[in-house]
Amino acid sequence: MSETNGHNEKKRLTNPPKAIEFRISRREKIGAAQYTEAFEIPYRRSLNVISALMEIRKNPVTKDGKQTTPPVWDMNCLEQVCGICTMVINGRVRQSCSALVDDLLLASGGNQITLEPMSKFPNVRDLQVDRTKMFEHLKQVHAWVELDGTHNLGPGPTMTQEVQQERYAYSRCMTCGCCLEACPQYHDDNYIGPQAIAQAKLFNMHPTGKADMDVTAFVLGGHGDTMVPLPRYSTCAGIPVTELLSKEKIDEIVKRTANGGAEIVGLLKTGSAFYAPSLAAVEMAEAILKDKKKILPCAVLLEGEYGINNLFVGVPCKLGKNGVEQIIEISLTSEERAALQKSAGSVQELIDILGV
Ligand code: SF4
Ligand code: FES
Repeated sequence: MSETNGHNEKKRLTNPPKAIEFRISRREKIGAAQYTEAFEIPYRRSLNVISALMEIRKNPVTKDGKQTTPPVWDMNCLEQVCGICTMVINGRVRQSCSALVDDLLLASGGNQITLEPMSKFPNVRDLQVDRTKMFEHLKQVHAWVELDGTHNLGPGPTMTQEVQQERYAYSRCMTCGCCLEACPQYHDDNYIGPQAIAQAKLFNMHPTGKADMDVTAFVLGGHGDTMVPLPRYSTCAGIPVTELLSKEKIDEIVKRTANGGAEIVGLLKTGSAFYAPSLAAVEMAEAILKDKKKILPCAVLLEGEYGINNLFVGVPCKLGKNGVEQIIEISLTSEERAALQKSAGSVQELIDILGV
């Protein structure tokens, strides 16, 4: 039998059991052994898991008649907004405040409901977990807007309905942890997980800063912290960034560029930067296959160019149907030339270590 509430079809058990058994995973404190206790409560219409837990808390006596401690769990909004009540119910991670007992029993076909804490977070007690790591992940991707009241933010750029709709979906994240719990790739905090990546996407979709798309930047030398970013040759809509940004800001960007690889490795924990190299490889292949005569920074064998011999170093090259068709030698200041020599020296050192 079913009835409608005007929005969703509400499922109802036609022959509900007299009692429902809740098998609850218990742990007295962090590090203590985990065990399961079974409780039985009479069935009534419109029960959800939290209201059932409240019944058990009022009279914490197990199915076998043993007096025990009231089960501990987290709850707050009770309307699937805060995410704090998330737990594993009948093997599936979800919010307990919106988990209806009728739905659960209909799906399982029995009268038992198992409640366990999420397994990807430290278990504090019973069904309560510590979700701090999710908030640390948000800090890592800087997923918030700085508002200190000193800026007139104005009306802001307009967004299409499509973009607004997509961003709205990302903005609904309540940091519940379901995605980390369900993700087969996430374990032992090995990467920041879907929730933080979704928030990075939310902020990146905002049109503020879209002018960055017109930025062309130049970097010479080897890969790593000795690379040589060249602000003089980096432009935004054709204007050198040295005309647009303060020296402090440029220094900050240069430092972040040189350490960008290490930053990504730090976020990925296990793994390396592969998106940027893949994108660059595609751009290079396209330039060659389509004979675009495109100028791109490439690691090429230098034979005297830039005063470097017999070494593959990143410098601007023209790519066309013949591969590297020209190595472009741009004029460098003595400081930039010295930085490039230092970077080439690091490449040579690595080659010496490898003995190739
Ligand atoms: S993205 Fe993850 S943490 Fe955010 S609401 Fe969805 S499942 Fe929960
Ligand atoms: S108590 Fe807030 S989502 Fe369940």
